[in-house]
Amino acid sequence: MCGIVAGLAQRDISKILIEGLHRLEYRGYDSAGVAVIDPAGELRRARAVGKVRALEDELREAPLSGAIGVAHTRWATHGRPAQHNAHPHLSSERVAVVHNGIIENHEALRGELEGAGYVFTSETDTEVVAHLVDRELCSGLALPEAVNAVTARLDGAFALAVMEQRNPELLVGARQGSPLVVGVGIDEHFIASDPLALLPVTDRFVYLDEGDMVAITPAGIQVLERTGDRDELTPVTREVVRYEHSVEAAGKGEYRHFMMKEIMEQPRVLSRTLAERLDPQGVRLEAFDVSRHSFLAADNGAEKGKQVVDVARLTQLFADVRQVQIIACGTSYHAGMVARYWLEEVAGIPAQVEVASEFRYRERVAAPGTLFLTLSQSGETADTLAALRDIQKLNREGPQAGHYLASLAICNVAGSSLVRESDLSLLTHAGPEIGVASTKAFTTQLVALMLTTLALRQAKGDGQTDDLLSRQLLMRLKDLPHVIEQSLALDGEIAQLAEKFMHRHHTLFLGRGSQYPIAMEGALKLKEISYIHAEAYAAGELKHGPLALIDEDMPVVAVAPMDDLMEKLKSNLQEVRARGGQLFVFADPEVSLKAGEGVHVVTVPGVCRFLAPIVYAVPLQLLSYHVAVLKGTDVDQPRNLAKSVTVE
Ligand code: F6R
Repeated sequence: MCGIVAGLAQRDISKILIEGLHRLEYRGYDSAGVAVIDPAGELRRARAVGKVRALEDELREAPLSGAIGVAHTRWATHGRPAQHNAHPHLSSERVAVVHNGIIENHEALRGELEGAGYVFTSETDTEVVAHLVDRELCSGLALPEAVNAVTARLDGAFALAVMEQRNPELLVGARQGSPLVVGVGIDEHFIASDPLALLPVTDRFVYLDEGDMVAITPAGIQVLERTGDRDELTPVTREVVRYEHSVEAAGKGEYRHFMMKEIMEQPRVLSRTLAERLDPQGVRLEAFDVSRHSFLAADNGAEKGKQVVDVARLTQLFADVRQVQIIACGTSYHAGMVARYWLEEVAGIPAQVEVASEFRYRERVAAPGTLFLTLSQSGETADTLAALRDIQKLNREGPQAGHYLASLAICNVAGSSLVRESDLSLLTHAGPEIGVASTKAFTTQLVALMLTTLALRQAKGDGQTDDLLSRQLLMRLKDLPHVIEQSLALDGEIAQLAEKFMHRHHTLFLGRGSQYPIAMEGALKLKEISYIHAEAYAAGELKHGPLALIDEDMPVVAVAPMDDLMEKLKSNLQEVRARGGQLFVFADPEVSLKAGEGVHVVTVPGVCRFLAPIVYAVPLQLLSYHVAVLKGTDVDQPRNLAKSVTVE
């Protein structure tokens, strides 16, 4: 999705902006552009379709320099990928705007502006912002007030960075529904949609709140809150937060692709997600973070420099949970599907899982005592955030409308919107995930979900009776990073197996029980990076239709850990084999499956059945990675996809 980098420095900013754009490439985009105010006071712009490299080629021909600038990577929504649609957009050669998100009422505004004589040069929704700002400036407002007046008229979700040719010492940013951070430097400050863009120049960030604006001048940063029906701007103080990961964490290191690096990082990041969250009694409730305004925040928390959770209140809340509603998209949704099995079997709590884009648009009934649990790597996925905001609105409207006890976000990005807007959060410590295909974020989400399941089980217990299952699961969790290391050792074998998939057009994935979502995740990985059509079925559903697809051209991948459903799965596999299907089975050492004509068996390390979904996800990630490499696709930035889906 689109990315913003902008800044005001006391040196030429163009190289910083281009480096920032490179760092945003992972998010997926189709064109890029930059504008600066040069030392002669001229507003200069360059834009190119394709990769940031194409923009750099253009800049080699016609270099730009200046101490203030705005830059952008665009993922087309309104208007095809083309140079005239790429940002920055200008008005009257004096206003430059970059924008993430969607302005829903842009058509009406365009009509109004055309009526006022403005000429549009693009099909984008963004260009209306540039002209509206220009009109406000012409009416005599200063840039911050002009941007404020304009944003008050915009519907939709957006983040903006704006500069004005006549004022080369002022950069303005605004956040409403799309993320925006301020990078705090020494005598130079920046705006970006993602802190990763700015890591080479700063590790200190201010995360803007919803509705905030920021004005950056040589004197410093001023965050402005809109008050009094939004037409007044009041300066506010926002915390400066140090970014916890190094610049290297966002690099490829020795690996050819980010995806492989991220797959291989899993033992380490799973250990990190578990670290300091377990004690001999079980899961430490202090592991859950609370947002600033949460009713679960300890009364004296802020005095300790960080808002902390009130453990007694959280224990009571968890004891009161009667149902869990899980909401997520894509890979995160698959993690939620696994968690449903755990919550019902381990914690005895009914759970429902739904994709956010469906949940948010239907009439629903929430049972009393429902915990609302969102899952997201980025914490900025538009549909997931909208679902959270929707249930919060219902809760505010009173008990008839909503019965959600609290909202909990399991998320990989500390300052993200989802974390800040939820009552509670449990961070996955996967570190920056750059490859579009989610890998380490998924397995760390599963670990965080198992911790949540155990915490709920704990709260329901009497605290006295010895809880054997919890003790065993905690022990196995501690050993999990080691088991994942063993499953990564299958890499060479899986790389060879991948050759059997590279010329296929379709693949079927099968699993049963909590491995069904793992089969779905395996299919999603294969389709998104190798472009092979892949579908997943609960193996028991095979006879109800998909069996018709089976022939020698249809590879069938099955996930076969040792559990109660093993014998049933074996019968399903026989059904495939009997119809000439090629089987590729990822199986527990104790599953007596013989490799032979048409049957390939990869032995996966033995693991307890509860944690098996985490372990079996790994070889499927490796499989899709190697198939994609053999096919020569763009592994880290597959076509048409974006890393963080911040628009609907
Ligand atoms: C697939 C993938 C996507 C994301 C989905 C949700 O590999 O990465 O399906 O899982 O877009 O994103 P988050 O987790 O950031 O909400």
